[in-house]
Amino acid sequence: MNEVRAEALFAPATARNREPLLAVLDPMLPEHGLVLELASGTGEHAAFFAARLPRLTWQPSEPDPTLRASIEAHRAAAGCGNLLPPLALDVTAPDWPLERAEAVLCVNMIHIAPWAAAEGAVAGAAARLPAGGPMIFYGPFKREGRHTAPSNERFDAMLRAEDPAWGVRDLAALGDLAAAHGLRLDRVFEMPANNLTVVFRREAAAVRAGPHASSDSA
Ligand SMILES: C[S@@+](CC[C@H](N)C(=O)[O-])C[C@H]1O[C@@H](n2cnc3c(N)ncnc32)[C@H](O)[C@@H]1O
Repeated sequence: MNEVRAEALFAPATARNREPLLAVLDPMLPEHGLVLELASGTGEHAAFFAARLPRLTWQPSEPDPTLRASIEAHRAAAGCGNLLPPLALDVTAPDWPLERAEAVLCVNMIHIAPWAAAEGAVAGAAARLPAGGPMIFYGPFKREGRHTAPSNERFDAMLRAEDPAWGVRDLAALGDLAAAHGLRLDRVFEMPANNLTVVFRREAAAVRAGPHASSDSA
């Protein structure tokens, strides 16, 4: 029988950024409800955040089956009742396997994927968040078209060499995309290693665009 072996994988950056991320996430996330984590990768963040934020239900997701197996392995090891099994979710798909989330988190994904992934993440989140619900991105960003550090510029060149569709995104471009879907910029936190945590919140009556459009304005 063919099975994906349940092996817990580890990414060094995740261990480094999880504490500073938790510190900014905690006050930005709601008092209760479901957090949809996009592009959960190994599942280390999901296991860590679910354990530290027991008031919330954590929903990891990931398109790669090997990584979903890793998320499952971390979930089993964590033993947290508020950590759900991972969803198979590619953010560029028109249909997502979940109707609603009180918050959406996307860590270190939109620069390691085509811009269509940012578009899918924003559209899908906007269609599922309640009014005021946060959509939170973490990663390196350009500001006003410029890199914020030489290390980010080198990283950008490396990404583009690997795939010309990848690359460090401009915060303003993400802001314009978010605004087109009814998400207003709320907070920007400067993080270690020249990363940003960027918090958008859904307006009361979201502008709906793209494949996730619906008549719901809650
Ligand atoms: C650098 S990893 C980050 C993983 C995790 N968030 C972390 O910080 O450790 C990038 C992740 O983006 C995911 N990804 C790439 N394209 C995607 C898409 N279209 N939809 C959802 N996830 C995607 C990859 O599978 C991978 O897990």
